Amino acid sequence: MIKIENGYFSLQTIISEYVFCIDNEGLVRHLYWGKIIDCLRDFKFQPLTEISTNDPVYEITPEEYPVYGGLRYKESCLKVTFADGTRDICYKYTGYDIKDSTLIIKLTDIYYNLSIELYYKVYENCDLIERWTVVSNNSADALIIDEIYSAQYHLPYENLRFSNTHGHWGAEQQAFTQNVSYGKICFENRRGISGHNHNPYFILENNATETTGDVFFGVLKFSGNFRGIVEQTQYGETLVQMGLNPYDCKIVLQANEKFTTPSILAGYSNLGFEEMTYIMQLYNQEHVLTQDLRPVLYNSWEAVGFDVTCDKQQQLAKLAQDIGAELFVVDDGWFGNRNGIDNGLGDWYVNETKFPNGLQPLIDTVKNYGMKFGIWVEPEMVNPQAQLYKDHPDWIYRFDNREVTTSREQCVLNMTNKEVQDFVYNMLDDLLSNYDISYIKWDANRPISEPGAKNLGPNEQMLWYLHIEAVYNIVRKLKSKHKDVLFEACASGGGRIDYGILGIFDDFWTSDNTDAYDRLIIQNSYSKLYPIKAMRAWVTDCPNFLTQRTIPLKFRFHSAMMGTLGIGSNLLKMSDEDKELSTIMIAQYKEIRHIIQNGVFYRLTHYSTNDYYIFEYALDKEDLLFVFLPQSKLGHRPVNIKLQGLDDDIYYEFNLNNQLECKSGRYLKLKGIDIHLLGDYQSVIIKFDAK
Ligand code: GLA
Repeated sequence: MIKIENGYFSLQTIISEYVFCIDNEGLVRHLYWGKIIDCLRDFKFQPLTEISTNDPVYEITPEEYPVYGGLRYKESCLKVTFADGTRDICYKYTGYDIKDSTLIIKLTDIYYNLSIELYYKVYENCDLIERWTVVSNNSADALIIDEIYSAQYHLPYENLRFSNTHGHWGAEQQAFTQNVSYGKICFENRRGISGHNHNPYFILENNATETTGDVFFGVLKFSGNFRGIVEQTQYGETLVQMGLNPYDCKIVLQANEKFTTPSILAGYSNLGFEEMTYIMQLYNQEHVLTQDLRPVLYNSWEAVGFDVTCDKQQQLAKLAQDIGAELFVVDDGWFGNRNGIDNGLGDWYVNETKFPNGLQPLIDTVKNYGMKFGIWVEPEMVNPQAQLYKDHPDWIYRFDNREVTTSREQCVLNMTNKEVQDFVYNMLDDLLSNYDISYIKWDANRPISEPGAKNLGPNEQMLWYLHIEAVYNIVRKLKSKHKDVLFEACASGGGRIDYGILGIFDDFWTSDNTDAYDRLIIQNSYSKLYPIKAMRAWVTDCPNFLTQRTIPLKFRFHSAMMGTLGIGSNLLKMSDEDKELSTIMIAQYKEIRHIIQNGVFYRLTHYSTNDYYIFEYALDKEDLLFVFLPQSKLGHRPVNIKLQGLDDDIYYEFNLNNQLECKSGRYLKLKGIDIHLLGDYQSVIIKFDAK
């Protein structure tokens, strides 16, 4: 809900409120973000006077969107250079507009024909506010945007804790928390994809737990170079800016052009991290992942690598169907001269040696077994050995007098070039039109380097933005034509997990690390802001290729069943006993996946003083408890788990240690149950059914 009274604006969701006003200087002054108050007339901005000549008004004024100009020295959201060289914005408020549930605040420079519009879209039921900014050059001259963030957030607290992820290939989503103190924390990506390292989101709180405390958070809807800055100032506040990374990215706005920033979805929870997770989950369910439950997939990448032949894939398809897979995905190696990483990318025709009669016989086999068919592509890339490169050496990012650096023996196609965009779109459109394909795994295995794109002229540095926009647009266009196809976002594993890609793509490949124990850590951290329904997790063979760890099959299944289940084992070599267990586990997953993919997710690991990992899913009158014990330790004790998602007054039946039990929701929430696992890599899933 949007309420406006005498220059005061209140954006309200069910639990939160965001208030700002236009002050006597014409500044858009931030006033409040937190639990709903709903009494706008109580808000009065205090006229500001400078503390000293070195602590000017602009420094102590919490502005909604501080610009570079005047006596402002904090991080600004917008810095421009006008055609005459002036590097200073001086805005005045010119009015507002409301469209649907979006408030637009209009600002204009007092001299130059520059307008800034601040957008606030209120998702009342989901407790989120989405913000973005549009800058328009209404003059006859070009101007340069040196820096532009999507929004600033102002928290009137010091000594907060900031959480994000670090990591690298095979170890994505490693959660960390650090204290915010004086100075700035900068988290960013400069690689062209959002990356394996830091993630485009912020979480700020002061000693919150899973179930208590105020938590402020925001996710950026962008998959390219981003930057976030958290700054504790000298004036008792913490500021956050997030948006497009200004590193190597100047934007030239020609006369009458405008630029729209990526948006930030931000929320507030007064009940700790669990509520934060719930808020994002609700948003995803209502606005993003509205399709049916995700199928169990089979993918042979880890099992056979590039050894993809029609024969072998057909054999695997039969075995995949036997154990219960519903979607068969052919990974890398089916096209061009692709027998390793050094060739083939760009040559998207079916490899005739591996598939003498094309893809159709395999697709027929897969369909005859009642499964859907999916395929891997890496459309943004080309191998220098591929024919595409020979035909179009100018289609990659490059500078004239520099060698192009290859990585994984490939170069990045200049996706800002219309010809390249058409090539990629047509290639995928042909694939989807000629074959019955339900699933595309879209990979991107290297970062951008030598970022030269002559076609962009003076706007060459915009390629960091335009590259990813091109990817979004191609997939949007493909999906509008091929409606039911699901797209999986993969970038060397989990390098493209962000809210820019989500909603355009449907699934995330979470990590190339399929070790069931490492995955508990990755999945736990992923779950804080990202949806379980999009979290692809495979069961693969042991010893794991990355960790050399051997883990029992049941634990591997339970770990992968936490998300959308996939199988990546070499079924040609799997023992009958393991096939039998796999069949049972997949059947069990199908029985409970509606709770996993659509239920409310709770992290309960904090109940354990040992090393248990504990998760709960609740949907209507059903509930699931996942308990993992990777390693028994000396004096191991049972763990007492208090469930979160049950109804107090309903009785639930469940099976504990092969005994049928029946307890009230209230008992299970307050007294809890004791689970005692013994041995290494032990795990159990317990289902609670309302009686
Ligand atoms: C990346 C992906 C893998 C697989 C390979 C194929 O590493 O993350 O899942 O698709 O590429 O080359």
